[in-house]
Amino acid sequence: MKLSGKHLVLGVCGSVSAYKSAFLVRELRRLGAQVHVLMTPDAARFVGAATFQALSGQPVLSETRYSKRGDGMTHIDCTRQADLLLIAPASANTLAKLAHGIADNALTAAVLASQAPLALAPAMNHAMWSHPATQANLEKLRAYGARIWGPDHGEQACGAFGEGRLLEPSVIVQHVLDCFSDQPLAGKRIVVTAGATQEPIDEVRYLSNRSSGKMGFAMAQAAWQAGADTILIAAPTTLSAGAGVHRIDVDSAEDMRRCVLECLAEEPADWFIGCAAVADYRPAIVQSGKIKRTAATINFRLVRTRDVIAEVARSGQVKMTVGFAAETGQIVENARAKLSGKKLDVVIANQVGNEAEYGFDGDDNQVAICWRHGCESLGPMSKARLAGHLINKLYELYQEKINHEKTTAHSGQSA
Ligand code: PMT
Repeated sequence: MKLSGKHLVLGVCGSVSAYKSAFLVRELRRLGAQVHVLMTPDAARFVGAATFQALSGQPVLSETRYSKRGDGMTHIDCTRQADLLLIAPASANTLAKLAHGIADNALTAAVLASQAPLALAPAMNHAMWSHPATQANLEKLRAYGARIWGPDHGEQACGAFGEGRLLEPSVIVQHVLDCFSDQPLAGKRIVVTAGATQEPIDEVRYLSNRSSGKMGFAMAQAAWQAGADTILIAAPTTLSAGAGVHRIDVDSAEDMRRCVLECLAEEPADWFIGCAAVADYRPAIVQSGKIKRTAATINFRLVRTRDVIAEVARSGQVKMTVGFAAETGQIVENARAKLSGKKLDVVIANQVGNEAEYGFDGDDNQVAICWRHGCESLGPMSKARLAGHLINKLYELYQEKINHEKTTAHSGQSA
C-alpha cells in the first residue's frame, strides 16, 4: 500500500465541503495511512466527529478533547509523529489565523505547534477567495513553506460560479501521494526548448540574442529529476544537459520549429515548456559566402519568424503549454497578453534589459508565474533551485487543469 507507515493529520474546517473530507479519510486509509482528524468548532456543524472517528479508526481531536490535556491526545501529541499535516477544507478564517500565528482552537494550535510539512486545500466562496486579504494570507503561508492545493473553479454551494471549490478527494489524494514520491512526473513526457536561436545573415554571421540556455537547461534537468521523460531542444550553447535528458541540437527558429513539431507528431507530450529565446525576425535572404566589408552601410530586410509555441498550443499535441516571457517594463501585464494571445496555459515572466538584475545569462533569476486565475512571484534564487520550484508549481497547475477538464466532461455528460 502506497501510504503504509505514513501518519497523516487531517484538519477539517467549517465548510459545506467538509463532507468530502470523509471520503478523503476513507481513501487515505485504504492506501495504508494512519489518519488522525482534527476539527475546528465550526466543522462539527457540518459533519459529526463520530463519522470521522468511525472512518479513521482514531479518536477525533476537537474542542472538547483539546480542553482535556494529559489524556494522551493533545494538539501537540497528535502532530508529533505526523508526516504531513493537511487541512482540507481550509476556510478563509482558518487561513487568516494560520497566517498570523493565531492558536485559538485545537486545529490552529496544532499547526502552530507542529514541525510537520503543512498542506492546505482551501474552500470558500469565490469572492472571499479573490479578496486581497485572503491572497495576502496565502502569500504569507506559502512563504512559511505551506503547500496550497487548489481551489478548483466551478459551481459553488452558494450558487455562484468561480474559484473556491475544494478539490475532489481523488485529486487531494494524488497530491498526498506526490508528497511522498520523489518522482511525481514519472510516466510524463515533457518537451523543453532552451537557448538563443541563430538566424543566418551569410555563411559566417548570424542574428541572435543574449540567452545562454541556463534557465531552459535547468528546467529540463528539474523535469527529469521529477521523473519525466524529458526532451530538450537546444539552440547553440556550450552547456551540457544532464545524463538522463534527451537533447536535440538546433540552430534557427525555423529549425527549432520543425524539430518541435516532428517530436510532438512522433509522440504527443504532456507538457511543452518554451524557454528558448526564439528570434522574432530573421534576415529575408541569407547571402552566399561572406559579405565583404566594402559598402559604408548595409541594409537587411527582416521577416517575422513563425511562432513555435503558439503553433504547439494550437496543435492539440500537448496537455499543458508553458511559455517563458522575457519582458521589459510591465512584466505581468505583458506576460498576461502573451498568455491569452498565444493561448498558453501558463506564462513564466522574467525581466530582461538594462533595468534587470536577473534574466539572461546569470546563474540566478526571479520570475512571476501567471496562469488564467492567478499569479505568483518566485525568487530571486539560483536558476537550478528556481526550476525545481517551477516544476512543482506547474505540476500543481497541471493536476488542476486535468481535474477541471474531468469535472467539466462529467457535468456535460450528466447535464
Ligand atoms: O537562457 P538564459 O540566459 O538562462 O536566460 C533565460 C531567459 C531570460 C531566456 C528565459 O528565462 C526566458 O525568458 N525565455 C523566453 C525568452 C523569449 O523569447 O521570450 P518572448 O517573450 O520573446 O517569447 C514568449 C514565448 O514565445 C517564449 O516561450 C518563446 O519561446 C516563444 N516564442 C517566441 C518567438 C517565436 N518565434 N516562437 C516562440 O515559440
